[in-house]
Amino acid sequence: MTPRPDRHEPATLAFGTQAVHAGNETSGTGPIRTPIVMANSYGLPEDPSALSWSGTDVPLYTRNSGTNQLGLQRKLAALEGGEDAVVFASGVAALHAVFFTYLRTGDHIVVSDVTYEATWRLFAELLPARYGIEATFVDITDPDAVKAALRPNTRLVHTETIANPTTKVADIAAVAELAHDAGALLVVDSTFTPPPLYRPLADGADLVVHSLTKYINGHGDAMGGAVIGSRELLAPVKAEAMVDVGGVISPFNAWLITRGSVTLPLRLRQQVTSAARIAPMLEADPRVAYVAYPGLPSHPQHELATRQFTGYGAMLAFAVDGGPDVQNRFVANLRVITSAVSLGHDESLIVHVGTEGPRVARYPEQFRRFGHLRFSVGLEDTDDLLTDLATALDETFG
Ligand SMILES: Cc1ncc(COP(=O)(O)O)c(C=O)c1O
Repeated sequence: MTPRPDRHEPATLAFGTQAVHAGNETSGTGPIRTPIVMANSYGLPEDPSALSWSGTDVPLYTRNSGTNQLGLQRKLAALEGGEDAVVFASGVAALHAVFFTYLRTGDHIVVSDVTYEATWRLFAELLPARYGIEATFVDITDPDAVKAALRPNTRLVHTETIANPTTKVADIAAVAELAHDAGALLVVDSTFTPPPLYRPLADGADLVVHSLTKYINGHGDAMGGAVIGSRELLAPVKAEAMVDVGGVISPFNAWLITRGSVTLPLRLRQQVTSAARIAPMLEADPRVAYVAYPGLPSHPQHELATRQFTGYGAMLAFAVDGGPDVQNRFVANLRVITSAVSLGHDESLIVHVGTEGPRVARYPEQFRRFGHLRFSVGLEDTDDLLTDLATALDETFG
């Protein structure tokens, strides 16, 4: 199946139009949306000698590529403004694919000191112990600290745009310049700021990673991950990490994510609008200990976030005034917002994270004192979310 360039040429169209049409693998008078192709193999030509058995650009074997993966890859490249994309079974598989491809024993990486937990564990524990890869954790908002951490053997700098969970914001253009001056590549996890909120490649990032599990799928029913960037940088990620390590996405999940992403701009608009009303409401409430959200003027990188993103996202961290029991009681009193991990889903999700664990020492003082409630604002009516939070506060504090 081939795309229909005669009808839909996404590169010339606005984001909302691309979200509908890009990567739709259809042809002629067939179905107008890409079917789910649950096949492990694709038929070979009479003379297959010209094919590369490890090739990744024509459907051959589903660990190399398949119709649904190729469509999703084309779509993500279009949405992020990259030349190419590669998809994996999860966000963590996508992150690992980049690190596996670009780091060797004896290499060094500079990593933001606040990231998603699995990223932190990879560099604090697994990669140093297993493969002799050394990591320096830095405050990515401090250019002097980043500069001081860079070494001649630094291959990569890795950061999240908005950090999970503290919402610290990285200045991607500034970090890209520092990384490139030192001969390193910049890898950016943009899961909290999917396009059209931000496109890190335009600010100098070399590779962008997404957990597709979150906003890009948006319906909480399929896991996936992606790496987006230049063809040159992605070729070894595909050849080595995808084909030879094999953490590929299933065609069905690729199809679900392709479908979910059609409404990405509409969902984000609602989620960002709701977050912009919820964050100040929480901050103004004396029963709330603190709120971290880049859209609040009190956020330490509010100005940077205003300049860098077209919206502040829909991820908040906050705590109510009290110990762990009070945080748990507050969450238990919520009726619309669901207590569960993950984020970027259609339904609002909240999770109480305490003050234990090695990562917490790197968090701001209030996170260390109260713990935090990581809150992913969903698609519910904004007033229902505001009422749910207000009612839970009333019930918790009597
Ligand atoms: C910023 C970020 N990156 C990566 C991941 C990992 O994604 P996945 O759960 O799809 O492996 C997560 C998961 O929460 C995340 O928040």
